[in-house]
Amino acid sequence: MESGLSAMKGGSGLDGAIAAVSFMEESGLFNCGRGACLTAEGKVELDAAVMTGRGLAGAGVGDVTCTYHPVSLAKWVMENTEHVLVVGERCRDYARLAGLKVEMLEPSPEASRRFAVLKEQKHFASSVSLVRRLDPAGTVGAVAVGSDEVPAAAVSTGGRWMKLPGRVGDSAILGSGIFADSRLGAACATGTGEEIIRVALSMRACEFMSRGDAQTAASRAIGYISKARGRDTAGIITVDLKGRVGASYNTQAMGRAWFDHERGKVVARV
Ligand code: GLY
Repeated sequence: MESGLSAMKGGSGLDGAIAAVSFMEESGLFNCGRGACLTAEGKVELDAAVMTGRGLAGAGVGDVTCTYHPVSLAKWVMENTEHVLVVGERCRDYARLAGLKVEMLEPSPEASRRFAVLKEQKHFASSVSLVRRLDPAGTVGAVAVGSDEVPAAAVSTGGRWMKLPGRVGDSAILGSGIFADSRLGAACATGTGEEIIRVALSMRACEFMSRGDAQTAASRAIGYISKARGRDTAGIITVDLKGRVGASYNTQAMGRAWFDHERGKVVARV
């Protein structure tokens, strides 16, 4: 949170969102970057995306196996190419061009331990409930509006435990795991990527901000996915053009923190 706030001093919500996500990727405490969950083959494959409301600019990266900071790679793709999604082995070349440290991604000791438990129990098709019991820290994301008044979002994840190698989830896909529109606000999702993609959850949440504040939009978006795809599917964070934040989820819990302007301090909830 502090790293995100500090990065926003230059006025850009996008810089703040990326810095917050990058910090969490490095921490090893979440299902992203150094703490990512593993595929059915026990490997780390990361997804991430960034998006700004200015011109609907954004990009996602999927199946990244060469850097613990896919959110920075997504930023590079957004700023240096005309594409919105790059996946797979060639990400290594782009990570080098982006000046990122390119390395073999090793499972964290904690992820290796959980992988052994899952394999033992033959839980190859992970459900959100099962994963939450084994690993309550999920996908990470951030939404922000800076003094530039442009809503922005960033997201990063290891995806789902025991996913098929090569699977790409919502966190790489604009409109699903992330969305930002300068007429509406920004949103970022967590949960079961396949369900989030089916209902284009983050874009839907932003559309709801045309008729309500960030909290109303978040609640409506989760109401929508709960009805369409069932409970235990997703959580979402939102920010509207006035900088008001919202959060809603249909899972057991969703950790979140925000800067409370009235109280002048960071507030956290689980
Ligand atoms: N929401 C993260 C994923 O399913 O990939």
